[in-house]
Amino acid sequence: CKKYIPFQPQKIVGRTWPDKVITKAPVWCSVDLRDGNQALVDPMNMEEKLEYFHTLLDIGIKEIEIGFPSASETDYEICRELIEGGHIPDDVTIQVLVQAREHLIKKTFEAIRGAKHVILHFYNSTSTLQRKVVFHMDTDGITKIATDAADLIYEMAQPLIQEGMDLRFEYSPESFMGTEMDYAVEICQAVLERLHATPENKVILNLPTTVENCMPNQFADMLEYFCKKIPSRDSAIISLHPHNDRGCGVATAEMGLLAGAERVEATLFGNGERTGNVDIVTLAMNMYTQGIDPKLDFSNINKIREMYERCTKMPVGDRQPYVGKLVFTAFSGSHQDAINKGTQYMKESNSDYWEIPYLPIDPADVGREYEPVIRINSQSGKGGAAYIMEHNFGFDLPKAMHPDFGAVVQKETDAVGKEISPERIFELFQQEYIEAK
Ligand code: KIV
Ligand code: ZN
Repeated sequence: CKKYIPFQPQKIVGRTWPDKVITKAPVWCSVDLRDGNQALVDPMNMEEKLEYFHTLLDIGIKEIEIGFPSASETDYEICRELIEGGHIPDDVTIQVLVQAREHLIKKTFEAIRGAKHVILHFYNSTSTLQRKVVFHMDTDGITKIATDAADLIYEMAQPLIQEGMDLRFEYSPESFMGTEMDYAVEICQAVLERLHATPENKVILNLPTTVENCMPNQFADMLEYFCKKIPSRDSAIISLHPHNDRGCGVATAEMGLLAGAERVEATLFGNGERTGNVDIVTLAMNMYTQGIDPKLDFSNINKIREMYERCTKMPVGDRQPYVGKLVFTAFSGSHQDAINKGTQYMKESNSDYWEIPYLPIDPADVGREYEPVIRINSQSGKGGAAYIMEHNFGFDLPKAMHPDFGAVVQKETDAVGKEISPERIFELFQQEYIEAK
């Protein structure tokens, strides 16, 4: 990703902005097989989950939440198959989710027997709304749920750790975004203490938006406050788990990283409850185009997309960043012209950088091709048709001919009211300049 010029800070009236930028990739955790899967109309079967799991490995994701084994028999069986079937490489940690409830925690410990690296992720809901309408409890009651669970988890973990399992803990104050920050600090600190967190044995504090209900900058302020106030900050890894209810999941994650988070839970193409979880592809590739190595491999995005669509039975949108069918296509004539000029400039100048307008990334970096066929519709300018003639058919039309031929093509696109194919453009050329003579 060296070929992308990082965003250049600028000095304005004595102040440099932005004063913070993302400089390195976070720890990534995929929650596709849990949050993503639970939100499917038709959840994945064993075969699909295994295929999906292996794709996540190929991408280079090292922490993977594989399910909720105490809540679903299928998830339990998949957890066992992954462990017993030798699917998990030594440098990969599986993560299992559980509610902060005794019998579910016990079942989860059964599910992870024999695994080498595990993150046991437990949660309970902490927001004012959930306390009022779901749990009918005050903050002491909610804290007790979390600390009782932490005590049990810590106690049950000790023999496994002594046997050599690398077992770490993660706590999520679910609905963090709707929780008073001082209370969020209080409950998370209590959990850190019960889990004996230390700088050498950090506990992951995952701060989910759960339901995105404020602006990304407000979330970042909350997170910054949380990180400053929590006494055992250095014994925690701060993790994000943005959902996308306001369509701002990516911005929330990026702002959260600026505010001090070190880890992100996300899914491919943003699958997940309701409007989904934050999209790991967009987040990672956004970093990539700023010159930051995301340490994930999306160099064959079409293959990943094909697996995703087959396993989830959901299509990826045509305009989904980096992967959508239309994201490397230019319809407007001025865009087409600028792309041509950029391509020419790169050829002539031997530039080390990607300097093509309207294409924020080299499509080849995600295994896509810049579509040599620039599609022509009524919005395309005079350069577009000439471009097709050159790139598709090898006819380099003299510049003076471009306006004339552009008008011929435009007349046709106006008449048919939709895009026309390169073949039709060629036919028009023949009719106008060859057959008519
Ligand atoms: O969105 C959420 O709050 C969750 C938790 C269980 C982490 O998925
Ligand atoms: Zn979630």
